[in-house]
Amino acid sequence: MTRPAVLVARAVFPEVIARLREHFDVTDNPDDTVWSAAELRARLAGKAGAFITGSERIDAALLDANPQLKAVCTMTVGYNHIDVDACTARGVLVTYTPDVLTETTADFGFALMMAAARRMAESERFLRAGRWMKWSYDMFAGSDVHGATLGILGMGRIGQAIARRGALGFGMQVIYHNRSRLDAAVEQPLGARWVDKDTLFREADHVVLVLPYSPAAHHIVGERELALMKPTATLTNVARGGIVDDAALAKALAERRIAAAALDVFEGEPNVHPGLLEVPNVVLTPHIASATVATRRAMADLAADNLIAALTGARPPTPINPQVLGPR
Ligand code: DGY
Repeated sequence: MTRPAVLVARAVFPEVIARLREHFDVTDNPDDTVWSAAELRARLAGKAGAFITGSERIDAALLDANPQLKAVCTMTVGYNHIDVDACTARGVLVTYTPDVLTETTADFGFALMMAAARRMAESERFLRAGRWMKWSYDMFAGSDVHGATLGILGMGRIGQAIARRGALGFGMQVIYHNRSRLDAAVEQPLGARWVDKDTLFREADHVVLVLPYSPAAHHIVGERELALMKPTATLTNVARGGIVDDAALAKALAERRIAAAALDVFEGEPNVHPGLLEVPNVVLTPHIASATVATRRAMADLAADNLIAALTGARPPTPINPQVLGPR
């Protein structure tokens, strides 16, 4: 019996590739080349399944060129790189990897926020440059995290995990903005208070962005929102590039209209707005919030579980569009 052919679009753990080979005829990418859209489309020819990361864009043109494709399994929780409606319209299953990265991403978001507040990257660069000659009372004096007001935009799984760290570990007052208010059972243990978006920017000492990208969220943080923030406040983004207007942020940081920022995601990444590279008061990391060995392995395993289930008639654990699945 011929086995389904699948494409693994980027390098992943060899153990995960080996498991996929038990079920499929696997074409992988051990060199980890980032293929162009045309190349990805061509390499998917004849494949029933695609194992992808956030770097591969799945759109209607790619789907039309590959009508044999049955499942697209991304090892990410965010899925704005996939046109889910186009997949659903063509009966293509899409799966993602929620939950397994929640706590790891929250750890990193909190660490970034602390790094910005306490000026860690800026002061480390200063020390490495051999510029530390004496102690002074205001050298790299930042702002406190404990007891401060934490403003979370996007109070989903990761937002709530960051709120837990802030409220229970650091005695922070948590305010949040979300499309819908959370149940009292979630709010109360955290002392979390729903506020409108402008109030969040005005009142928070540390704003953390954790909302999914959508066209409605494009530049949801721009010049206007940055102007609402306290001059002592920080902004942390572990969500997606494009949510923040990076040019406006670079300008606000350069003019010290906010104290500092910490960014793990960027518009047009891996390119970074040159203005952000020039200002000292920003911590920049290359989209690694979920990058611990254990969590990346859990993400890859879950994406593989989804692909195996999708193409062997079982029920995938984490589908985005389960409506395309027939009875299983
Ligand atoms: C995700 O899973 O969406 C993270 O951003 C890693 O790509």
